Amino acid sequence: MEQLRIRGGGRISGELKASGAKNSALKLFAGALLANEPVTISNVPHLRDITTMIELLGSLGVEVVVDERMKVEIHANTINCFKAPYDLVKTMRASFNVLGPMLAHYGHGEVSLPGGCAIGSRPVDQHLKGLKALGAKIDMQHGYVSASVKGRLKGAHIVFDFNTVGGTEHLMMTATLAEGTTVLANCAQEPEIVDLAEFLNGLGAKISGAGTSTIVIEGVSELTGGQHTVISDRIECGTYLIAAAATGGYIKINGAQPSLNSALLQKLEEAGAELKLTDDSIELDMHGARPKAVSIITAPYPGFPTDLQAQIMAMNCIAEGSAMIQETIFENRFMHVPELKRMDADISLDGNQTTAVVKGVNRLVGAPVMATDLRASVSLVIAGLVADGETLVDRIYHIDRGYQQVEEKLKNLGVEISRHSY
Ligand code: UD1
Repeated sequence: MEQLRIRGGGRISGELKASGAKNSALKLFAGALLANEPVTISNVPHLRDITTMIELLGSLGVEVVVDERMKVEIHANTINCFKAPYDLVKTMRASFNVLGPMLAHYGHGEVSLPGGCAIGSRPVDQHLKGLKALGAKIDMQHGYVSASVKGRLKGAHIVFDFNTVGGTEHLMMTATLAEGTTVLANCAQEPEIVDLAEFLNGLGAKISGAGTSTIVIEGVSELTGGQHTVISDRIECGTYLIAAAATGGYIKINGAQPSLNSALLQKLEEAGAELKLTDDSIELDMHGARPKAVSIITAPYPGFPTDLQAQIMAMNCIAEGSAMIQETIFENRFMHVPELKRMDADISLDGNQTTAVVKGVNRLVGAPVMATDLRASVSLVIAGLVADGETLVDRIYHIDRGYQQVEEKLKNLGVEISRHSY
């Protein structure tokens, strides 16, 4: 087991380069299963979840070559097994999205029901409803979902009951090889969906409308090879911006697209940050000031991302004033609250556990705390930055799933942080 040790009290100051988006890269890897020729994906972040996805593709017999700069070449046609095992799928929900591409390209596939962060029940009913509408026969047995089709899938009109990022991506990918036209309505609009559509279109798919609520896919009979560069990670980028704001500090993030983080940037300005934006950089300066508390309600893109909720809460813990944080996307996504309270944060949760009221205190105190999920764990790191004394964040394998070289990046920003094994 490993833990991070952070000495709080300093101000963040410096520059860093944004990594490629984990949530995009994972779906591009699944989408690569649709192609008949090798595809090359660059700007892939070096993360535990990416390694898991590579292992998963490898277990299917897919040839994956990774170079030292994390350029990944995937050759789907070497596939010789169509079952994604529980051991790999359980740690990462995104791996469920290999089911549709296997089905569309090879006529069948079997995937264990997914796991991932422990944030609510996270069912896959919308994915399965859509695969059925495209003509798949779905069976569930012993925790595995198997999907098959005789001949090709058939285009269909599918209306999602609510916004689902993974569901939108899964059906959009699968429909690329269906016969005829598929219309997906009430779609999620996250930038990673647009990235995936651009990748697939580069391989010969005919997708329009990605990034809006209606996506139209004209099915094609095959996808060829191609190349793609992953967009920057707006959640990683947002996390470091919030960290800098919490410490009253300064940061410049290169390779970050401000347009992907509008909701957050607006809140950071409200918190007192001065921002300088270019097409591919974000500069934030608090000029040494304590942030003002900001209220947020998480919502599907372009609303405030649920994946930055825990981090903004950590900032609010030491901000001037009080703020309300409402979580609308996931149940059970306040697991960081008891841990933040161990550091003397003043937070109260309503009976339904969907809204938190945070009263800013002057200073948090360092304490041993436990990471519970990916984003919750990094909020504890942010809290550690603004706490007196030492904070020990345990179970940091959660952070390693989604943050590339977290301690190196923070060290470069002037933070006293180290990793320890025990
Ligand atoms: C993706 C992101 C995750 C982010 C989330 C919301 C990846 C790898 N993960 O997760 O970081 O927090 O979007 O922005 O891209 N739901 C159902 N049935 C379904 C599908 C979803 O009930 O079939 C529910 C979920 O339980 C959740 C909500 O819908 O409450 C949104 O989930 P979804 O948008 O699908 O999130 P993910 O794609 O899993």
